[in-house]
Amino acid sequence: MDKLLIRGGVPLAGRVECSGSKNAALPLLAATVLAEGECRIENVPRLNDIDTLVKILGCLGVTAERDAAGAVATRVESEGESVAPYELVRTMRASVCVLGPLLAKRGYARVALPGGCVIGARPIDLHLKGLAALGARIEVAGGYVTARAERLRGARVYLGGAFGSSVLGTANVMMAAAMAEGRTVIEHAACEPELVDLANFLTAMGASIEGAGSHRIVIRGVKRLDGTAHRVIPDRIEAGTYLLAGAATRGEVEVAGARPEHLDALFDALGAAGVEVEATAGGLAVRAGARPKAVEVTTLPYPGFPTDLQAQFMALMTLAEGASVITEKVYPERFMHVGELARLGAEITREGPTAVVTGVERLAGAPVMASDLRASAALVLAALAAEGETEVRRVYHLDRGYDGLTGKLRALGARIERLSD
Ligand code: EPU
Repeated sequence: MDKLLIRGGVPLAGRVECSGSKNAALPLLAATVLAEGECRIENVPRLNDIDTLVKILGCLGVTAERDAAGAVATRVESEGESVAPYELVRTMRASVCVLGPLLAKRGYARVALPGGCVIGARPIDLHLKGLAALGARIEVAGGYVTARAERLRGARVYLGGAFGSSVLGTANVMMAAAMAEGRTVIEHAACEPELVDLANFLTAMGASIEGAGSHRIVIRGVKRLDGTAHRVIPDRIEAGTYLLAGAATRGEVEVAGARPEHLDALFDALGAAGVEVEATAGGLAVRAGARPKAVEVTTLPYPGFPTDLQAQFMALMTLAEGASVITEKVYPERFMHVGELARLGAEITREGPTAVVTGVERLAGAPVMASDLRASAALVLAALAAEGETEVRRVYHLDRGYDGLTGKLRALGARIERLSD
């Protein structure tokens, strides 16, 4: 198992390129199940999660090949197998997004139940409720969801849950409704930019979708969707992570290709912390000379502050002047990074879904263990800002979601090495 060795205390400076969005690319690849002919998806990031979905597509009779430029070409070769096996699904919950397209196109889908993970319980009841509303007969047994329908029928579907809407739940219902008979209205739909990207892709394939990016999406089902070309949007979470790395090390970092309109909540929080952020000609930039000020942040579904940046923002707040309050409203248990940040000298107390971070003047390097993707990113940020040497173990979590992390950080001047354990 590889680990990262980071010698911190160097202000990061320079420019990095934003990769394509993981959370947009995954449902886009799943949607290729619906297509007649070839799809070509450009700007697909090089990540283990993408490789996992490509393997699942392979099990479903879909070939997916990557070219040197980073585009993935897919083609449905056979529709005989519609089972997404547990061995693959258990490594990545997003695999569940093949359920909607398989059901809509083939009338049958069998997908392993993803189960929980370190960030919380992560049920899929909203996905199943939505697909059932379109007429699917759903059975959950033996650790698998089996869904059947000769032809799905459009319906009005309400997707609000205890923690807001569901991003992949909305994606599943949107993909299924694209080929259902008649009109579907998704109320309380998730609004994340990744869903707008999916709607644009489906529309280019021939689907009729209005309102993506709002809480009400209207879909008129069509009989056939054709292969098309599409470019994945930039990864707003990756961009936010590098901006926060710049802020935490009190450096100057530009993320080329990042879209300012996708990061309003982060801009607002950074501004309140006294960090200069601006949209540049080609992306976004931060400049942070002084110690940040403590701010209150609550994660919420988009356009609120993203849960996927909560841990990284907490890493910044560990060094702030004053006490910040960070509340997690999307995944109330997503605090695995708290104990590890404490190993670097952070002062954090947690009460249910809220963490109070009392800023310290400096962090000091120590061995730490990564627990999930974003928690790992937070540890890397804290290590970059800390004095001395930090070893971050279980780096494979980062390989799931950060394309070329060590190379990009090194280009910004970080002293970071990847070693085999
Ligand atoms: N929820 C339910 N029932 C459901 C589905 C979700 O109660 O049927 C709850 C969840 O437990 C959670 C909340 O609703 O409390 C939001 O979950 P959501 O379904 O929106 O999450 P997701 O679609 O499974 C995507 C991202 C996550 C990101 C969340 C929230 C992908 C592949 N994953 O997951 O990304 O945290 O939306 O924005 O798009 C990551 O990249 O590190 C990551 C975890």
